[in-house]
Amino acid sequence: LVAPLHDGIGRRFEYLRLSLTDVCNFRCTYCLPDGYKKPCNKPAELSVEEIRRAVSGFAELGLWKVRLTGGEPTLRRDFEEVARAVSEVPGIRRVAMTTNGYRLAERAQVWRDCGISALNISMDSLDPARFAQITGHDRLEEVLRGVEAAQAAGFESIKLNAVLMRGVNDDELAAMVEFVATRDLSLRFIEVMRTNDNAAFFEDRHIAGQTVIDRLETKGWQRVPRQPGAGPAVELGHPEAKGRIGIIAPYSKDFCASCNRLRLSSDGKLHLCLFGDGGMDIRPLLQGDDSEALTDRIRKLVGTKAPAHRLHEGNSGATPHLASIGG
Ligand code: GTP
Ligand code: 5AD
Ligand code: SF4
Repeated sequence: LVAPLHDGIGRRFEYLRLSLTDVCNFRCTYCLPDGYKKPCNKPAELSVEEIRRAVSGFAELGLWKVRLTGGEPTLRRDFEEVARAVSEVPGIRRVAMTTNGYRLAERAQVWRDCGISALNISMDSLDPARFAQITGHDRLEEVLRGVEAAQAAGFESIKLNAVLMRGVNDDELAAMVEFVATRDLSLRFIEVMRTNDNAAFFEDRHIAGQTVIDRLETKGWQRVPRQPGAGPAVELGHPEAKGRIGIIAPYSKDFCASCNRLRLSSDGKLHLCLFGDGGMDIRPLLQGDDSEALTDRIRKLVGTKAPAHRLHEGNSGATPHLASIGG
C-alpha cells in the first residue's frame, strides 16, 4: 500500500483537478469578459495518452477523484475519449466535471455513459437577460434543460455554481435558494476571486460568503458536518429542503487548511495552489512508462506546497484568469 500523498503540514491529497483546455466559448464577466484569446506561445494540450499516464501516476499515489475542468472541457474534440480514458484508470472511483452546460441537454446521457459521475454546472442567474449579460450568451433556457437532462441521466451529484456579485445577482439569493430547496440539487455560492485580469471587477463586486451564511442561518439553514477528506466549502442543509447549499469563501480565515486538491493545467503543469506560482512542468515525465520517475517527482513537488494562498494581500500569483488553470 502506498503512503497517502501529503504536504509538509500534513494535508492529504486525494483529488486532482484536470484542466482539459483553456478555451471557453462563454465570456463570464468575472473570468473572460472579452472572450478567450489564445496566448501566441501556448503549448498544445495534453494528448489522451499523456492524460492517461498522468492520471495513472496520481492514482498510484492514492488519488481517487478526478474533476475534468477547463475552460470549457467539452470543447475538446476528443472530450468523450478523454473522459472514458480517465474513468478507466485503475483506482479512479469518481470522475466529476465542471461545465458551463451549453451542450448538456443533448449530451448528458452520453457523458454519463463515458464514466462521468458528478457534474458542477455554472449558473450565475436564473433570469435569462441577466444570464446573457453575465456570460455573453443567451442560453439560460438550454442550460436549465441540461440540468433536467442530467437529473434524468442519473448523475450521482449535480451542483450549480453561482458566483456572488454585488449589484449583479445578489438580489437573486432567495430565488436561487428556493430553486434548490425544491429539487435534488446542490447550490454553491462562490466568492469572486481576484485574478490578474479582473482586479477592478473584483473591487466593485466581491461579497463575502459569510454574509450569505448569516442570512441562511436566520432562515433555518444549518451547517452540516463535512465528510473526512471533503474540501474547504462550508455546507448547509435545511430540514424542509431537498437540496444543500455550499459556500466557497477563499478569503475566509483558515480556508486553505482543508485544501485537498491538486491541479494539472491543460499543458501538463502541476499547480499546488490556484493562486500560486506559474506551475511546475511534469509533461516530460508523461512521455514514457517510467511511472516511478513520475510519482517520485509528484511526491517531491507536493511536499513543497505553501500553507496558504496570499489573496488577502491582493496577490493573485501567476493566475491571469481561472480558465487558464482550471478553476
Ligand atoms: P467539489 O467539492 O469536487 O464539488 O468541487 P468544487 O466545488 O471545487 O468544484 P467546482 O469546480 O465547481 O468549483 C467551483 C469553483 O470554486 C472553482 O472554479 C474555484 O473557482 C472555486 N474553488 C473550488 N475549490 C477551491 C479551492 O480549493 N480554492 C479556491 N481558492 N477556490 C476553489
Ligand atoms: N472567481 C470565482 N469563481 C470563478 N470561476 C471562474 N472564475 C472565477 C473567479 N474569478 C468559477 C465559477 C464557474 C467555474 C467554472 O469557475 O464558479 O462556475
Ligand atoms: Fe468560461 Fe467558465 Fe470562465 Fe465562464 S467561468 S468564461 S464558462 S471558463
